[in-house]
Amino acid sequence: MDIKEYLTKKREVVDKALESLVPPAKTFPPKVFEAMRYSLFAGGKRVRPILAIASAEALGAKTAGLLPIAGALELIHTYSLIHDDLPAMDDDDLRRGRPTCHKVYGEAMAILAGDGLLNRAFEVLSDQRRLKMVTAMRLISITREISLASGVFGMVGGQVVDMESEGKDIDLPTLEYIHTHKTGALIRASVRTGAIYAKASEKRLKALTRYGERVGLAFQIADDILDIVGSQEEIGKDVGSDLKKGKKTFPSFYGLEESRRRAREVSDQALAALKDFDRKADPLRELAKYIINRVN
Ligand code: IPE
Ligand code: IPE
Ligand code: MG
Ligand code: MG
Ligand code: MG
Repeated sequence: MDIKEYLTKKREVVDKALESLVPPAKTFPPKVFEAMRYSLFAGGKRVRPILAIASAEALGAKTAGLLPIAGALELIHTYSLIHDDLPAMDDDDLRRGRPTCHKVYGEAMAILAGDGLLNRAFEVLSDQRRLKMVTAMRLISITREISLASGVFGMVGGQVVDMESEGKDIDLPTLEYIHTHKTGALIRASVRTGAIYAKASEKRLKALTRYGERVGLAFQIADDILDIVGSQEEIGKDVGSDLKKGKKTFPSFYGLEESRRRAREVSDQALAALKDFDRKADPLRELAKYIINRVN
């Protein structure tokens, strides 16, 4: 299969779904909707929603009913980027090829746009009119999955330790905690969300969870590598941001070559988790490879 073509097609589907989840920029109070839409429609890769969709497809499910949920994952992810870029956090000026949200709308509005996106995700997840195809019980379990992954036991916890570790010596378990939480948790939850939507058996859910964990870690190792070797034009964000802030990353720990080797190893572990799946899991397999070979 052609992963490029697959990604292009799925991005279109996800973008269309997102368009229906966020009210137009003229909605009152307009500034916050404008700021939310500015960051959301700046051209992200949509990896998390696409992983959710590919996971459901791997189990043979039709995915139209999953789209609002997949979109909610992207709303949360985009909020995390807006906050991550703030002067109090990574203090970055460029995101998705544009000036960061706070550069354009100011810090207060960027914080509020992030808050708006985060809450909007749960407004969508609890909207049974939008989610007629999902039973209430499954919706609760998906919502719990996503809220745990986004909060202090997941992404927020990872961001806390990331901030606390700036300029410090940390050990390998701490580095892995940062990566598996600040980035890995939402990616794992994305894969699991698709699986829960598709009514996965316990055995399938376990395998997909392992896949999601490995892909999540590989994704952040690749992000760390791109911060060093990527071009600003391609990654659409400031290059060398981690070094500037004294961040603890895989390359700062192991060097570039060893980090690349580890990314490959972890991606292979993700592939191994899918060994009992048939061809319907090929998009997931290709995604695990794409995630470590990407240039943005
Ligand atoms: C960047 O995420 C932040 C991380 C969690 C590593 P992505 O690389 O998925 O960014 P977009 O969504 O494509 O802009
Ligand atoms: C981002 O990690 C994690 C979250 C946004 C939760 P980074 O700080 O490495 O992401 P980039 O490199 O700014 O995209
Ligand atoms: Mg950060
Ligand atoms: Mg950052
Ligand atoms: Mg980074």
